[in-house]
Amino acid sequence: MISRRGLLVAFASGAAAFGLTGLSQTAANAAKTYTVCKTSAVAVRSGKTFTVGGKKILITQPKKGSFKAFVAVCTHAGATLTGATNNEIQCASHGARFDAETGMAKAVAPKALTKVTVSVSGGNVRVRF
Ligand code: FES
Repeated sequence: MISRRGLLVAFASGAAAFGLTGLSQTAANAAKTYTVCKTSAVAVRSGKTFTVGGKKILITQPKKGSFKAFVAVCTHAGATLTGATNNEIQCASHGARFDAETGMAKAVAPKALTKVTVSVSGGNVRVRF
């Protein structure tokens, strides 16, 4: 009979042999970069939602030249977030509010928005996920 420890060691050896330990690295390498919009499409202290790679992504520009990106799904009950004004993202469903720079919840929602990696290149806002 194989002990529990022996079974774990055997599984780990087998996983390594089949390259399974590199799965998380493979997933990280599978991330793609998408061009979302021109930097001029999102005004300072506001935000807009775009469909990118089949996902709704909310881009904000809290300070001139500083862009942030979030998954545009409200953490209260999953409504789609459509934009931001005065550096605040508001959900039309039940009034949740989020900081447009950090994504931190200010009211109603239980937690912060999910951040997305964002960059600017050649006047374009790009995200990676
Ligand atoms: S779903 Fe956004 S506040 Fe309820």
